[in-house]
Amino acid sequence: MKTILVTGGAGFIGANFIHYLFTKTEDIFIVNLDKLTYAGNPENLKDIEDNDNYKFIKGDICNQELIEYLFSEYDFDYLVNFAAESHVDRSIHNPNIFIETNVMGTATLLNVAKRFWIKDFSINRFLQVSTDEVYGTLPEDNKEIKFTENTPLQPHSPYSASKTSADCIVKSYYDTFGFPTLITRCSNNYGPYQFPEKLIPLIIHNALNDKPLPIYGDGKQVRDWLFVEDHCDAIWTVLNKGKIGEVYNIGGNNEIKNIEIVKQILDYLKKTHSLITYVKDRLGHDRRYAIDASKIKNELAWTPQYKFEDKITETIEWYLSNNNWVENVVSGEYLKWIKQNY
Ligand code: NAD
Ligand code: DAU
Repeated sequence: MKTILVTGGAGFIGANFIHYLFTKTEDIFIVNLDKLTYAGNPENLKDIEDNDNYKFIKGDICNQELIEYLFSEYDFDYLVNFAAESHVDRSIHNPNIFIETNVMGTATLLNVAKRFWIKDFSINRFLQVSTDEVYGTLPEDNKEIKFTENTPLQPHSPYSASKTSADCIVKSYYDTFGFPTLITRCSNNYGPYQFPEKLIPLIIHNALNDKPLPIYGDGKQVRDWLFVEDHCDAIWTVLNKGKIGEVYNIGGNNEIKNIEIVKQILDYLKKTHSLITYVKDRLGHDRRYAIDASKIKNELAWTPQYKFEDKITETIEWYLSNNNWVENVVSGEYLKWIKQNY
């Protein structure tokens, strides 16, 4: 039985990861530590809240005393750190909370884990869930060039700079103390439970309500889209088979221009393209992301299982069938409910 501390497990990828783990194995006990910011929602895990092998704790990864208490209460084998402020646009307007959570929070987790795990580093794993945004941007005219694990770190937004700082601190704990770290850097995810501020759920929600679809700049920016369950599977693979101290890129080999995705969604929903509204570009907007995932493929035998054509329609259908979830998230109803109940 593995006991895992998952941080940020009430958010988009964290909740999918916890669902994924419970379908994958019963030999697991998960403690989910989440601050329940605007992006965290216990509703995402409603179906497993009574599972005996699951415990939810509302709390902040920056709270050292709380993390110490959890480490003294549970004998964690692994820690997977999803907790973060994750939205680039918000980081442009309010960088400080990104530095607090993404940098200081990660440092707090590392410090406590290092003290509690000191007896035997060989059985423990600290996996930092990072992003391809740490590498900066790629030229759009040379498709041969992709991000490898050796691409220099050149973040542009306060979000990506905070994630890069966290990665550097995580790496320093391996280099300096031999602390058992793993870092994964993934491209853009899509799937169920994504907060409708991110491109795909935002476009679905606005299109369904015949609202304008804000397209930054010329809409020709490229992202490498990966279905969230593939990301979860890659994290589990790295956690179990990855080499301590290493970084693994995770991607879908699936580069698409933003505007193309928006048109696909409109066509599927049978909505008019006239909803497309070009707006001022995001400050410091990275032009293209693309992952070279050959390391995880060659060394850990992981490749994505799902095709974008299948999973994008399944994702749109999920948002159609879960319109209540979307409306409660967008209107702030869940936040009110969380304040009263947690
Ligand atoms: P999200 O915003 O949906 O969820 C983040 C979760 O972290 C929320 O549940 C939130 O309540 C929680 N949280 C925030 N601050 C916290 C704190 N101080 N203490 C405890 N919990 C806190 O984000 P996501 O899209 O699920 O991303 C999860 C992780 O994956 C992040 O680290 C992000 O950088 C990384 N990532 C995301 C993507 C993507 O496409 N979404 C791609 C690559 C990497
Ligand atoms: O690449 C991984 C990253 O992907 C993660 O590290 C981040 O946490 C995650 O938020 C995501 O970042 P992006 O900035 O790429 O995702 P977002 O959905 O915000 O935007 C995707 C693209 O769509 C980007 O080029 C900006 C554009 N966009 C976005 C929004 C919200 C628009 O044109 N209009 C919009 O309204």
